[in-house]
Amino acid sequence: MEYHIINQDLKMSRLVHGYWRAHKWDLDTQGYIRLIEEVLATGINTFDHAACYGGFANESRFGAALKADKSLRERMTIVSKCGISFPNPTLPEMKSKHYDNSAAHIIWSAERSVRELGCGHLDLLLLHRPSPFLNPEEVAAAFDSLHTRGIVRHFGVSNYPAQKLNMLQSYVAQPLATNQIEISPLHIAPFSDGSLDYLLEKRIKPMAWSPLAGGKLFDHSDERSRRVAQALLQAGEACSETRLDTLAYAWLLSHPAGLMPIIGSGQSERIRNAADALSVRFDDEAWIRVYAAAQGHDVP
Ligand SMILES: NC(=O)c1ccc[n+]([C@@H]2O[C@H](COP(=O)([O-])OP(=O)(O)OC[C@H]3O[C@@H](n4cnc5c(N)ncnc54)[C@H](OP(=O)(O)O)[C@@H]3O)[C@@H](O)[C@H]2O)c1
Repeated sequence: MEYHIINQDLKMSRLVHGYWRAHKWDLDTQGYIRLIEEVLATGINTFDHAACYGGFANESRFGAALKADKSLRERMTIVSKCGISFPNPTLPEMKSKHYDNSAAHIIWSAERSVRELGCGHLDLLLLHRPSPFLNPEEVAAAFDSLHTRGIVRHFGVSNYPAQKLNMLQSYVAQPLATNQIEISPLHIAPFSDGSLDYLLEKRIKPMAWSPLAGGKLFDHSDERSRRVAQALLQAGEACSETRLDTLAYAWLLSHPAGLMPIIGSGQSERIRNAADALSVRFDDEAWIRVYAAAQGHDVP
């Protein structure tokens, strides 16, 4: 496994395991412990959560495993997110869908995540979505409070356009450690809209969500998916790699931005396929051929 050493106490594996879909995996606490051990055995040390995943219930499922096996926490980097509210059965006081980036909400959410996850502190807390109502002074105050009290060690954002990230950083004392963005061989806009250029300029390593386009890459009924899958498989011929998921992860990992794709599957074989992607590298020609397939036309 390769790692980004973002900071002395923030070590993130190039591949991350994500828990957005975890409520569908039908795992009890022992099942979670087995899964987490399998993930750790690949060298992946980073686990991605959000307060709202699974209707505000997924963090506690993962947390039950950490509480049952105390050896797990010290071997992992835990990321969580805050700021999205919607009606849900876990927190009936949430009445409508909205973003809340007030200091009170950020602090409440991070403290709750730490309790639910049973993890002592969050290694990284992200603002989940950019809000048009964002008050950067509130965010800065919340981050200071969480940092000073040792509840959160590092901070970042998710789905932020470059300009908004830049603006927020000018208020926040802590360096923003990442921007978690949607990016895959089927979602290629960040390669050309300035998002990755900005992160490269600032030496910020991005996390990549839905790296397999939420499974759409395997949709044979979709012409564009078929075309991109074909281009990936063709590139794999040079190194006898036939696994489409491995090739898609490798395509992302090969990009100079230092992307950290987040695996969305709970299946052991698929997690291993992802980890194996680090031994496949795309050169300029192979990489651009997949990009051109996604664009639907050659580069000019
Ligand atoms: N920051 C944000 O706003 C945001 C938004 C969305 C997601 N995320 C994060 O990103 C993580 C990954 O997102 P994602 O789940 O959408 O990732 P993804 O890997 O693009 O999609 C996962 C889906 O693809 C399917 N899949 C995986 N490998 C497959 C294969 N070899 N063949 C066929 N289907 C396959 C999975 O099915 P199985 O489950 O059956 O394997 C699952 O339904 C999330 O867990 C979350 O941590 C963040």
